[in-house]
Amino acid sequence: MRVLTGIQPSGKLHWGNYFGAMRNAFALQQKGEAFLFIANYHALTTVRDGQRLREATRDVALDWLACGLDPEKTVFYRQSDVPEVQELAWYLSCITPMGLLERCHSYKDKLAHGMDATHGLFAYPVLMAADILIMQSDLVPVGRDQKQHLEVTRDLAIKFNNAYGDCFKIPEPYIPETVATIPGTDGQKMSKSYNNTIQLFEDLKSIKKKIMGIVTDSTPMEAPKEPEGNSVYELYKLFATPEEAAEMAAKFRAGNYGYGHAKKELFAIYERTFAPFRERREKLAADASYVEDILKAGAARARQEALKTMDKVRAATGF
Ligand code: ADP
Ligand code: TRP
Repeated sequence: MRVLTGIQPSGKLHWGNYFGAMRNAFALQQKGEAFLFIANYHALTTVRDGQRLREATRDVALDWLACGLDPEKTVFYRQSDVPEVQELAWYLSCITPMGLLERCHSYKDKLAHGMDATHGLFAYPVLMAADILIMQSDLVPVGRDQKQHLEVTRDLAIKFNNAYGDCFKIPEPYIPETVATIPGTDGQKMSKSYNNTIQLFEDLKSIKKKIMGIVTDSTPMEAPKEPEGNSVYELYKLFATPEEAAEMAAKFRAGNYGYGHAKKELFAIYERTFAPFRERREKLAADASYVEDILKAGAARARQEALKTMDKVRAATGF
């Protein structure tokens, strides 16, 4: 089974990225063959500064490696190091109905948040389909916001196979319900675009401040509270063992336990979980060529796979 996912280097990674996508990908790298890539072409829809894009790409690579990506088990690469992806995106574009893209919520949402209506933003799901299909992926771990893009990918694969003969596997999304939408500090979906994120590796003081600022209701400290649906508890649960989560839930229900107490516990459990990752990240960052070497080796392996698919696609389409 081949597992593939991508992440855009469009800003610092946050808890939503970690629990929504990264952690599932790490778990799945034990089960099958994992492909993980940095979607730097996709990031070009939002990042217009070359230096920033390069830095963000390196940061994202360091984050993944620090948090558990095993480059021995996982093919880890940069999208732009596999140029065949762009070629495939064009073949796919030529069978993509406009209506399919016009219906995409993510595009409409981005316009609603003030982004320019560019062709790149509109065609984004086609490039994403190319990422997935070129590697013959079986399973794609993503957050719920990407579900529709996976549907587009499946539609395009089926359409292409019907038109030209079987070239692609039909991939399945992997969206575990428990982590489908990680809440941000304001209770909405955590997202770079909403200014409500807690980053994976920002300094501890700032993390503490953000945690203490998580929006909660104004039930008095003494009163019993229902933990389910509360952002502090929901975030704590992501880090905690089932026993630890049950313990916090019981404290909330018993009363005399306020959101301030829970926030302190959330900070402590974040620290406990991320201390080893932080240490590893510092070590890796000190070695200037480490990340680059891993990404180059990953790209060589990824390209082999891409070329296999492209041989079929080129032959089928008449090139
Ligand atoms: P952002 O919304 O901050 O721009 P991205 O769109 O770059 O994040 O998301 C990268 C990956 O992380 C995707 O697979 C996405 O589904 C997942 N993800 C991002 N935010 C969340 C969240 N709040 N809950 C669950 N998954 C998320
Ligand atoms: N669109 C994804 C996001 O914003 C990133 C991405 C690009 C991706 N290509 C992909 C995810 C292929 C999974 C598979 O999060």
